[in-house]
Amino acid sequence: MTTSGPHAVVLRGPVLYPDSPDRVKAWADGFVRLDADGRIAASGPWEPGVAGESDRVVETGRALVLPAFVDAHVHLPQLDVRGSWGLPLLQWLDRWVYPAEAAFADPDHAEAVATRFFAALAAAGVGTAAVFGTVHAAAVERAFRVAETSGLRVLMGKVLMDRSAPDALLEPAEAGIRASLALAERWEGAAGGRLGYAITPRFAPTCSQELLAAAGRAARDSGLRIQTHLSESPGEVARVAELFPDAPDYLAVYARVGLVGEGTVLAHTIHCSDGEYGRIAGGGAAIACCPSSNAFLGSGAFPLARAREAGARIAVGSDVGAGPQFSPLDVLRHLAHLGDVGPAELLWRGTAAGAEALGFGGATGRLTAGSSADIVLLEPPEGAPADPLEAFTTAVFRQPETRVVATLVEGRVIHGSLQTNL
Ligand code: GUN
Ligand code: ZN
Repeated sequence: MTTSGPHAVVLRGPVLYPDSPDRVKAWADGFVRLDADGRIAASGPWEPGVAGESDRVVETGRALVLPAFVDAHVHLPQLDVRGSWGLPLLQWLDRWVYPAEAAFADPDHAEAVATRFFAALAAAGVGTAAVFGTVHAAAVERAFRVAETSGLRVLMGKVLMDRSAPDALLEPAEAGIRASLALAERWEGAAGGRLGYAITPRFAPTCSQELLAAAGRAARDSGLRIQTHLSESPGEVARVAELFPDAPDYLAVYARVGLVGEGTVLAHTIHCSDGEYGRIAGGGAAIACCPSSNAFLGSGAFPLARAREAGARIAVGSDVGAGPQFSPLDVLRHLAHLGDVGPAELLWRGTAAGAEALGFGGATGRLTAGSSADIVLLEPPEGAPADPLEAFTTAVFRQPETRVVATLVEGRVIHGSLQTNL
């Protein structure tokens, strides 16, 4: 189903979107006008006359009209690993993740999981995601095809690793880079810019110096975005210090080969020094903070105030499968529990900050005229306050009582229905 057709669609209901990290635009009785080409033509307070005679007006009732959420860090092959609890990161990868990823040698399996994965993201209200695949190029190719038909906005990459994992998941550096660039050739900027390719070295413990350097060169030469993990667990940080004794700190392992710049998304970054946060910010890289994952694995708590003070750009990610839930509301509740964060910032981190971190900032994350119509209709719990931002906060803390009525990307309904009374 799509909203497009000869007529514009006007959503009327409580409208809320972030204006800046600490300010929102909100109207308890507002509207968002969607053009037939999937863009937002206008938004603001409802008044007679904002909808033309031939427009289709959809009353959302109690459902909030929000920008679709952005999941800035999530692993496709880990859909069914979720909830496998009880081990710290490095042992958890060995016990649960690598066997699940090895099964992606079968492209049919990859396609079946990808179908469920993208449906689960859309059902959670996510319109945009930065996705890790596996090392298998054929599996990532199939996943991109599913992403294309799913309608989601997706940045995705084939994982690169050449050591310290089961042999079936390793490949020589040069082969991995070649396969990455071949995928990027097909998918970077595809579907009118809705899809993108990210160079995806898994993390320093499973990448040789040669592979990291090749990944940095490939990213520089191609201009592709980059995603990886940094300083998630104490065991990982200790291993990196052993493997790269000549590097002054973990961040330097990536930065010295050109992997830390404006197109880089660094997941976790929990155990960083103030100097590292300063250099992340100075380099223009973004952080994907994954607080529900960190709580699940017992990795530590992201020092939000320190990273923010350093000026770092901070988005949020579910990190499924270490994060047990796709719901951005669950992720944002964990973010709130880190402390020193208010309601407007929660909304910002889950939407516009993620869009900017992933390089989709011009397209999505806000409900301003000219943006893509990437929207979630979110029905807050019964009895939630009438004020849109207060209702959103209630939805974050009472996520099981909150309903994702519909998710739209480029004006197309990718989950649910605009009929709020169904
Ligand atoms: N670090 C390297 N790989 C992974 C992964 O798959 N999940 C998490 N949580 N951390 C990682
Ligand atoms: Zn991850």
